[in-house]
Amino acid sequence: MRKPFVVANWKMHKSVDEALDFIRSLQGRLPDADLVECGVAANFLALYPMLQEVKGQPLEIISQNAYAEYEGAYTGEVSPKALADAGINYALLGHIERRKLFNETDDLVNRKVIATLQAGMTPIICTDETMIQKEFSGSVHYVFEQLINVLRGVSFDQVKNIIISYEPSWAVGVGQHANPNLAEEGCRLIRQTIADSYSYEVADKIRILYGGSVNPENIKQIMNKPDIDGVLIGRASLDTDNFLSMINTV
Ligand code: G3P
Repeated sequence: MRKPFVVANWKMHKSVDEALDFIRSLQGRLPDADLVECGVAANFLALYPMLQEVKGQPLEIISQNAYAEYEGAYTGEVSPKALADAGINYALLGHIERRKLFNETDDLVNRKVIATLQAGMTPIICTDETMIQKEFSGSVHYVFEQLINVLRGVSFDQVKNIIISYEPSWAVGVGQHANPNLAEEGCRLIRQTIADSYSYEVADKIRILYGGSVNPENIKQIMNKPDIDGVLIGRASLDTDNFLSMINTV
């Protein structure tokens, strides 16, 4: 049984004070982490104060990025080592907005995955529908070329702990969520790609999240799908009550 995971991706929203107010307003209102895992991905400035504030609450504080080296002379970047030492367990890597706005490539995301794993963190690898390449060889099969590229050098032992998110770019930030059946199809194909690349046993263990205009009205339908183990929520997660209502429907 894969534990559900509800992740708020605040992107470039919230000051440190606003982030701390959000954490305080969740106090005592989150479900037991054994039932549902919850997390908030915030900007770098807010991460450490949030870690201090969240003490004891069942809430993961998640980084929205990490650099492609364990640590070193990379001005302006944030190292997986520093994030892990601070107590951050998860990092979003290769989000569609970073690919589109900052030209992140498969190779860079792959190096980020390796460096994050080296620091003992769990990467949440973001994928989107452009990764589905139809190859006709007698039978149609979908291969997530980019997913395979970003997993280069990731061992069987490492891959079963990673998390993958499927965020069709046409559903992100536009209010038009993916039809739950399409969301399920994308997540199923990711799981099939992992089974093809590693094994069915590994594919059965990894958690696959869906992101793209998730909100309190559609989350139940989306979470009822067999290959969807959680969600990555942007705009609808900025409000505490919205965030809690979505967690409580899981
Ligand atoms: O990482 C999830 C995010 O990209 C989805 O954003 O605003 O469509 O929920 P939104």
